Amino acid sequence: MTPLYSRLCGTGSYLPERVLGNDEISQRVDTSDEWIVARTGIRSRHIAAADEGVVDMATVAAQRALEAAGLAADALDLIVVATTTPDQIFPSTACLLQSRLGNRGAAAFDLQAVCTGFIYALATADRFIRSQGARHALVVGVEKMSRIVDWDDRSTCILFGDGAGAVVLSASSKPGILSTHLHADGRYADLLQVPAAADTLTMQGNAVFRMAVRTLGEIVQETLAANGLEGKDIDWLVPHQANIRIIQATAEKLGLPMERVVTTVAHHGNVSAASVPLALDDAARRQCFRPGQHLLLEAFGGGFTWGSALLRWL
Ligand code: UT7
Repeated sequence: MTPLYSRLCGTGSYLPERVLGNDEISQRVDTSDEWIVARTGIRSRHIAAADEGVVDMATVAAQRALEAAGLAADALDLIVVATTTPDQIFPSTACLLQSRLGNRGAAAFDLQAVCTGFIYALATADRFIRSQGARHALVVGVEKMSRIVDWDDRSTCILFGDGAGAVVLSASSKPGILSTHLHADGRYADLLQVPAAADTLTMQGNAVFRMAVRTLGEIVQETLAANGLEGKDIDWLVPHQANIRIIQATAEKLGLPMERVVTTVAHHGNVSAASVPLALDDAARRQCFRPGQHLLLEAFGGGFTWGSALLRWL
């Protein structure tokens, strides 16, 4: 039997209209544009309106991805949504999204792996397709981080933003996704969390930073080794957009110049599970990727969780 793969057939994304710049944040907490840019690379982030939920943002991103793929919503047989900030406890964001899209009958569920959520969701959909459990899958990363940010905590409020990114995967005899790698280590839960009795997130930024740099360095090597590749074989790194210094460290370990790294963190900050698909869609629409190129996607986040995906472009 010909091996079955999943191929990425379309991408889409959405950022809310309101842009919150560093100067505006520095009017509220003791920080500055210079500090934020130097330490994180972030210049602005998008903030959803009070009545704009993750389902609203996910719907636009999903519709754009379906349009790019040339696929009707009713052709989907799997919808996986990665989010840490659902509008309601249940039904799942995936079911609410399914209804908005006008799809009936597809399997639909949410998945929670914080900033690594999109990679976890992509890996899950890939496994569904490879085992013939689905032919067309929609994978979404969406967050309204502004709802769980403590706007008086200067060490975290500068980092996060809202938005959504989506991809459509379809079964194919050609790859597609070459491999995915997922990990977690729950011993570090305290370093980045929304504590049980709280509404907002807390982070020990410097400890998270050091773990992220080390762990992402390891997972890119794991991904290369699994595919018999070297750093020079990677055409594009599409990293989690949390901090430009973390991205630069990973690129350096791969031996990749920054021109080969998709960076969108400057204008949307860390959008948790939406960061990777936002970056992917941004570069796809700028037509950065060429057929046959190797893209390496990676992310690290609360849990801790971390993961990667290697794919061959269309
Ligand atoms: O998505 C995955 C999860 N998140 C991340 O990957 C984020 C990981 N962490 C980071 O990006 C960085 O650790 C931060 C950007 C959060 C902080 O940068 P840092 O270089 O690790 O700084 P630091 O936490 O070691 O703090 C250095 C100083 C401290 O002052 P003192 O103690 O040296 O006097 C902080 O109080 O910077 C101070 N500081 C600030 N100063 C101005 C912390 N936040 C700010 C701020 N403006 N917004």
